[in-house]
Amino acid sequence: MSARLRPMRLGDLEAVLQLEEELFAPDTWTAAMYRDELSRTDTRHYLVAEDGDRVVGYAGLIAYDDEAHVATIGVAGDRQGEGIGAQLLDALLAEADRRSPVVLLEVRADNEVAQGLYRRRGFTEVGRRRGYYQPSGADAVVMKREKL
Ligand SMILES: CC(C)(COP(=O)(O)OP(=O)(O)OC[C@H]1O[C@@H](n2cnc3c(N)ncnc32)[C@H](O)[C@@H]1OP(=O)(O)O)[C@@H](O)C(=O)NCCC(=O)NCCS
Repeated sequence: MSARLRPMRLGDLEAVLQLEEELFAPDTWTAAMYRDELSRTDTRHYLVAEDGDRVVGYAGLIAYDDEAHVATIGVAGDRQGEGIGAQLLDALLAEADRRSPVVLLEVRADNEVAQGLYRRRGFTEVGRRRGYYQPSGADAVVMKREKL
């Protein structure tokens, strides 16, 4: 079942931060980081996926003229595997293709579900960053997708 996508608002932050804790602890972003991201409306594109009035997923893109970056993507644990993550990613990539020739992202080296999702959307591994995630110290794989 799919969810409805819309731009993330400041009023979503409580729900987003709860998901952030569920999905990314201990490497969570703070409210201040999200507020800062949402204030940069020229280069940022943050979405939430809503089912009724519940935020069940979210994702964010940072896009410059020469390069875009998938900053984050997450779906509530009890709603994973329904296609919501793919729906969010496709929306980010459509926006990225309007703005930039290349999209980059980092993903935890042990996150095979996310890497598979990215590979099937045209991303390939271009490098590794040791200890990238903090405070956990987990390694990241860097992936890249060129606009077709
Ligand atoms: C990665 C994540 C966003 C994917 O969201 P999702 O809504 O569960 O994903 P979808 O249902 O759209 O499935 C995406 C793909 O992964 C596959 N998939 C989903 N769950 C899977 C699982 N447990 N095992 C294997 N494959 C799986 C689906 O078959 C689908 O394949 P497709 O690309 O061929 O269509 C979600 O699992 C998540 O939030 N994980 C925790 C946070 C995270 O790791 N974020 C990524 C940070 S880089």
